[in-house]
Amino acid sequence: MKNSLTRRSFIRTAAASSAALAWFSARRSSSVFAAEADKPALLGGTPVHKGGWAKWPQWREAWEPEVLKVFRSGRWFRGSDERVSEFERGYAQLLGAKKCLATASGTTALIVSLHVLDVDAGDEVIVSPYTFIASYNAILSCKALPVFADSDPATLTIDPASIESRITERTRAIMPVHIFGMPCEMDAISAIARKHKLAVVEDACQAWLAEYKGRKCGTIGDLGCFSFQESKHIPSGEGGAIIGMSEELIDKCNSFHNCGRAVGTNKGSGSFTRGNNYRMTQAQAVILMQQFDKLVKETEIRRANADYLSANLGKIPGITPVRLPENSRAVWHLYPFRYDAAQFNGLSLDKFSKAVSAEGVPCGRVYHEQYFDGLLDEAIASRGFKRLWSAERLKAYRDSFQELKGNKQVCATTVAVTQNMLLADRSDMDQIIEAIRKVQAHSAALAKAAV
Ligand SMILES: Cc1ncc(COP(=O)(O)O)c(C=O)c1O
Repeated sequence: MKNSLTRRSFIRTAAASSAALAWFSARRSSSVFAAEADKPALLGGTPVHKGGWAKWPQWREAWEPEVLKVFRSGRWFRGSDERVSEFERGYAQLLGAKKCLATASGTTALIVSLHVLDVDAGDEVIVSPYTFIASYNAILSCKALPVFADSDPATLTIDPASIESRITERTRAIMPVHIFGMPCEMDAISAIARKHKLAVVEDACQAWLAEYKGRKCGTIGDLGCFSFQESKHIPSGEGGAIIGMSEELIDKCNSFHNCGRAVGTNKGSGSFTRGNNYRMTQAQAVILMQQFDKLVKETEIRRANADYLSANLGKIPGITPVRLPENSRAVWHLYPFRYDAAQFNGLSLDKFSKAVSAEGVPCGRVYHEQYFDGLLDEAIASRGFKRLWSAERLKAYRDSFQELKGNKQVCATTVAVTQNMLLADRSDMDQIIEAIRKVQAHSAALAKAAV
């Protein structure tokens, strides 16, 4: 989706294109077009899948009375009722965390966590480059430098072996991102953090219920951050959360997200500490609480279907499912796989995606090499950043983007389908596999065609 679509618009487009495909397929009577069934849909054949993938986000009428109760009560803001606190207790319990703080978004959850873990102006945070841009932005908001470790092409997540060489005397934290809900190799990351006395903020914004060696993602580092934005598996339009095992740290997060007010163990009087307003509203909390069971059930469905896809797509030459760390369970915010054009008669990844999408299976690239887009050039050219780092450091930093060979490969070869598609039946999974097989069978013709 490098050129045209963001991940979020990809998710919306995937849902919308289903309707168009259903219409398209309905118009093709099976008797007239049966002979074309084997031709790629992009070249005029019949799509393998009829479309009609689940819409996202989903609403349930049964949730409405509780939400209306909040609006009718007039107690909308966090401080005027208990619903946000109730959500926090429930979410902490769901993930096996000691405490949770609800926030306005995943981005604000990350900003609050970095602040509380003492990431300050002029510090550096080592982060995974293959992520939604908010991971970079949260670090920049602390006037700190996002320093990119490389991605491991086999896992798409941060390669622990590339972390230590990026550590300087300014490094304060590591921010692994469990991208698409796939756990990072947390043992190795935690060991490096311990050795160098660095904090770990898990960006688990796409990893609700993902597990690494029996622990939920978000509970392993010092703090873990989640997003409940509209595209997410548990959405409330906007929203976020921080979880942790330290009551003191979460109380500090609470103070910082609530204008610096004293909270629990974080005692003080008057304006004793800094803070902003990053609060969740009561209505968001009520919408989220009512989705706990749905999240648990749907996570199992996505897992079963993703396992089935991995077992079968891996048999198609040129398609490589992603490797997960040992003893870990992903939750598949997107289902990614690696594509090797050489095994498809040189069919480019974008043409491959177009051809598979035409078969009724919307898919595409996800993140590109965003560090070349300009936001980091803008940051390092700013007055503040020039005051905080030497010209030599900023030049070396900018030059280091060229060294991200693993991430370049990940961006150039990763294709994904969206999470809503994993909620469909096993026969739909068979058709996803069939669509890719069909495109491979016709890859020579597709590579030559001007489509
Ligand atoms: C990996 C990652 N980090 C951070 C965020 C930021 O979350 P939000 O959009 O709720 O601010 C997102 C949201 O898409 C994300 O996917």
